[in-house]
Parts: sequence; C-alpha cells; structure tokens
Amino acid sequence: MIEETDYENRLVSMDYLPEDDGDNPLRPRTLEEYIGQEKVKENLRVYIEAAKLRHEALDHVLLYGPPGLGKTTLAAIIAHEMGVNIRITSGPALERPGDLAALLTNLDEGDVLFIDEIHRMPRTVEEILYPAMEDFSIDIINGKGQGAMSIHLPLPKFTLIGATTRAGQLSAPLRDRFGVLSRLELYTPEELGQIVRRSAGILGASITEDGSLEVASRSRGTPRIANRLLKRVRDFAMVLSGGVIDEPTARIALARMEIDELGLDLVDRRMLTAMIEHYKGGPVGLETLAAMIGEEAVTIEDVYEPYLMQIGFLSRTPRGRVVLPAAYEHLGIPMEGQQSLF
Ligand code: ADE
Repeated sequence: MIEETDYENRLVSMDYLPEDDGDNPLRPRTLEEYIGQEKVKENLRVYIEAAKLRHEALDHVLLYGPPGLGKTTLAAIIAHEMGVNIRITSGPALERPGDLAALLTNLDEGDVLFIDEIHRMPRTVEEILYPAMEDFSIDIINGKGQGAMSIHLPLPKFTLIGATTRAGQLSAPLRDRFGVLSRLELYTPEELGQIVRRSAGILGASITEDGSLEVASRSRGTPRIANRLLKRVRDFAMVLSGGVIDEPTARIALARMEIDELGLDLVDRRMLTAMIEHYKGGPVGLETLAAMIGEEAVTIEDVYEPYLMQIGFLSRTPRGRVVLPAAYEHLGIPMEGQQSLF
C-alpha cells in the first residue's frame, strides 16, 4: 500500500484544474494556431471546407484519445471555423432525456453540440440521441399513463461532437452514427516545445529553446500538463533567476516539483517500484494495482498507462500489467530475481 501522496494535487494530473479552463488565453482558437495532431487537423480542414461549400452542417465528429490532448479545444475550433455557436455539456451532466431535449431544441441551424465524456451518458439519453443525429428530430413523451402523448419535434441540422477517452465503451449504434472518427495521439516533445513557446509568448514569459524543450520533455505528451508546468517553472524563474526560463532554471524547478527527466512524478515512481518490490515486476492485475495506489481502475487505464506504455515502461498482458526493463533502468533497480517474461 502506498501512502502519504497527495493524489488530488498532482502537477502531472491530466484532469481539468480551474486554471486550465474558462476563458483560457492559452487555448488556440483556429486550426492554424493549433499545434500537432497533423493528420486529424488536415482531414478536418477538408471536411469543414466541403461542408461550408455545400452550405451544410458538418457531419457528426467523434474525438477520442487520452485526456488533456485538446478534444474540447478542437471542438471549439471546429465551431469557430464553421462560423457557428458551440454548446458544451458532458455525458454525466445529461441525467434525463429532457436534459438533452432542452439543449437540442435550443440549437440554431448548423450549431455544434459538444458532449464530453460521451461514454458516460445514460442509456435513456443515448436513445433519444439516435434519431436526433440521424433524422434531426426527437419524439418526446408529454404526460403520464393513459393520457401520455408523444410529440414529434423537428430539430435544426446540427453537428454533434462527442469526446471520449474510451471509444471501446461506446455502443455500436452510437459509434456508427458518427461520420468522422478522429483519434488524438500523445504529442511529441518537439510539438510540446512549440506549444510551450507559444504559451510563454502569450503569458509574456521569456523562455529559451532549451528551456522549452526541458519543460516539454517532462510533460507526458500532454499540452495540459505542459502549460501547467510552464506556469510553475515561470514562478521559479521569476523568483530565482531574473525571470528567464532557461534549461538550468527549468531543471531546478522541475526537480523541486519532483518531476523527473521523463515527466514521472512520485505516484508513477511509487507505482512502478511497488510493482517491482511486491510483485517482482508483475504481472499485476489492474484491480490490484488500483488498490495499491488508491486510484480507480479506469483512471489507471486512461491517465497513467498511456504514457508509461508509450515510453516502454509498462506493458499490458492478458495476465496483468508488467514492468519493462527500461523502467528498472530508469529507477536504478537491478533486474535480477524478477519474473522472466522477456
Ligand atoms: N494549447 C493547448 N493545446 C494546444 C495545441 N494543440 N496547440 C497550441 N496551443 C495549445
């Protein structure tokens, strides 16, 4: 069991924090400003241009991939590029069919309805989304029992943009109703370096090329983390070294925040170390791992694992999770006596 870790306040958390949200000036507003995700961007550019040429609403879009990669940002950009309004909600917020009906009937022609965490929408709500997406109409039941009447309501032609960290959890009927399926990938350190330089410019912070790459390479492929680390590194630079974020300052600041060269924090390191020390590196079942670090299994799958797998530290096997040799090396733990799976 791992103790004394402040999971809620992880600097490398991919959850929204209040500072990430709202009228965030760091968010790009246009496809031109949006760095990375080149394949997704290039295709969207074509679909948007074609829809505009036909004077039609854009087809429904599903954006999926790990958290913090800019799904909400991209939805807002799509609406901006189409020249329409965006209404934002989330799967868990839509508790009853009436909640969705209220949103749908207030849309204007061509508008974007963005549903974040769409995999968490209740089944009853999902069912009224099918005809809304396909025929642009809904049937709502008015009244109860014998006197209940079904009312057929036409809707404006709108674009649904759904976002999810788990496309596999969507029902087939829902998934099939999206015309565009776009998978967002973790960003490369070079792309994150560009994002960090752009953000530093907007924040009025001065940063060197090396300084930006140092922040970028510790941001787990995730712009949300890169921007958060940039703000904290800027604080260290202002107080400790005259305000310029250069490589040595970034290194000192990140070390003080206990984020290592690869972006792992105490939780990651303790998780890997516990797997090695208590389970000889695995295989460890997902639920055991969850209990070990006091997180939910889905959080481990969505938040921790994508990056640890991308850097070759962890592998998913049918029998459980296994720590890979690169992680032993990084943690400075010798491999002898570990289960041999390689
Ligand atoms: N800020 C957050 N994500 C970004 C992106 N993909 N491009 C530019 N700035 C960003």
